[in-house]
Amino acid sequence: PEGRLDIRDLKAEQIGQMVAFRARIHNMRKLSAHLMFIELRQQTATIQGILSEHGTVSEHFLYWAEHLHVETIVRVRGVVQEPKAKQGEIIGVSIHNLEIHIHEMHVEGVPTEPLPFTVHEAEVTKEEAEAEGDTRHRVSDRARWNNRIIDLRATASQSIFRVQSGICQAFRAHLDSRGFVEIHTPKLQGVASESGASVFKVNYFDRPAFLAQSPQLGKQMCVAADMPRVFEIGPVFRAENSNTHRHLTEFTGLDLEMAIDEHYHEVLRTLDSTFKAIFKHIYDNYRHEVETVKKQWPHEDLVWLDETPILPFAQGIRMLNESGWRDEHGKELPEDEDLGTRDEIQLGRVIKERLGTDYYVLDKFPASARPFYAMPDPNDSKLTNSFDIFLRGQEILSGGQRIHDANMLSGKMEALKMDPKGMEEYMSGFEWGAPPHGGGGIGLERILMLLLQLGDIRNASLFPRDPKSLPY
Ligand code: ATP
Ligand code: AMO
Repeated sequence: PEGRLDIRDLKAEQIGQMVAFRARIHNMRKLSAHLMFIELRQQTATIQGILSEHGTVSEHFLYWAEHLHVETIVRVRGVVQEPKAKQGEIIGVSIHNLEIHIHEMHVEGVPTEPLPFTVHEAEVTKEEAEAEGDTRHRVSDRARWNNRIIDLRATASQSIFRVQSGICQAFRAHLDSRGFVEIHTPKLQGVASESGASVFKVNYFDRPAFLAQSPQLGKQMCVAADMPRVFEIGPVFRAENSNTHRHLTEFTGLDLEMAIDEHYHEVLRTLDSTFKAIFKHIYDNYRHEVETVKKQWPHEDLVWLDETPILPFAQGIRMLNESGWRDEHGKELPEDEDLGTRDEIQLGRVIKERLGTDYYVLDKFPASARPFYAMPDPNDSKLTNSFDIFLRGQEILSGGQRIHDANMLSGKMEALKMDPKGMEEYMSGFEWGAPPHGGGGIGLERILMLLLQLGDIRNASLFPRDPKSLPY
């Protein structure tokens, strides 16, 4: 219907037609008493609007329009035309080579407080700011996150969250087609599941409770309860008091858990086909959004292979050492310790160079780097049947086979000096008989950050939670 027009859908065939739509004033410039340009913005796109006294509006109207503020919501009626502006007059680059000759404009919403910055300013990239000296002020990342509502209005931010929605859709659709059931496990728990150091403790009617660090316990309990294929999209809490570009204190987990028939690589294959379905869905259906993000965060499309490389962890370490990479003491990296962030990124570079892919698996992690529930490798008890999946050199998933034998599990917990208190219900699932199973967990903001090369995970989180910010 008229008024719900999406400017992204405008086509050259519509030149000469009258259209009407709602938009925000993104930026404006008056060239003379008779001519004014108003850049109009709708979610992921902008279009240039022209107000011209020689056309259809009066001098009074131009005077009125000149005093509107950017970010005002207007309803516009105008005629689609080819840009007539001379070079240098155009104030914004719209996605089409089309503009709107405005006949009518009504105000529908006005900012009543001064804005800390405009969306137009937020879109200035580092490169643009440098190229133009100080003439275009660049808004800092922290200022953007602290004024998130304005920041989210930027076409790149709008595009990021459409891609995020696409990732969840593809995850859900792919697993649904493979017989997985969507579940919702409790986020209030009696115990910590991953590491005691990074758990939020809350007061639960004068008893301690913990915010779930993963749906790990719940999803395994579902398998023990004869739900052989489950997945969950839900919040995950980590009290990581560190400020890195890739850790949030609350993020969204995309998790799955499944019974296995013969080999834990069944889980890996399911996860691999899920990732590929996600990548394909995004590049097939969100091309406009990906390109819009690239204007703010320039990057290359992801490269992945039909046959995903699965490298044993130890082989990854050897590749790193052979490339001449050393730890901070100038030593080769050991094969029995987890990789640090810098090492992971370097391995990503080596693999891209040697195998030509941004997406790969490291398999058979050392037991010392894995939680209590990881199934040991039957051929080498120092290793586990577990893996991480990487995108552009950074971890997006951890997963693997779990211990399903109750005696083995309690032995492992004892060896790690874990307190079984609070774990009774989880343990009973295995004591009452559970099938061999495995699963994995993806960080939604991680995959989004790395797919679109956003540089910092906060850009991939609507209202980011980190140790320094808890704004509402
Ligand atoms: P998770 O913490 O859930 O396992 P992750 O991707 O953070 O997911 P970790 O195993 O914690 O994986 O860490 C992987 C590597 O990232 C670690 O070896 C460590 O070097 C680095 N790392 C983790 N946390 C931090 C941090 N707070 N600051 C700097 N580097 C970190
Ligand atoms: P892990 O602790 O590796 O594994 O977490 C799984 C995935 O979650 C993401 N992630 C994070 N994202 C943002 N901020 C954080 N602080 C953060 N921590 C982790 C990463 C990581 O790969 N129970 C296991 C999963 C399993 O085996 O099924 C687990 O939680 O993308």
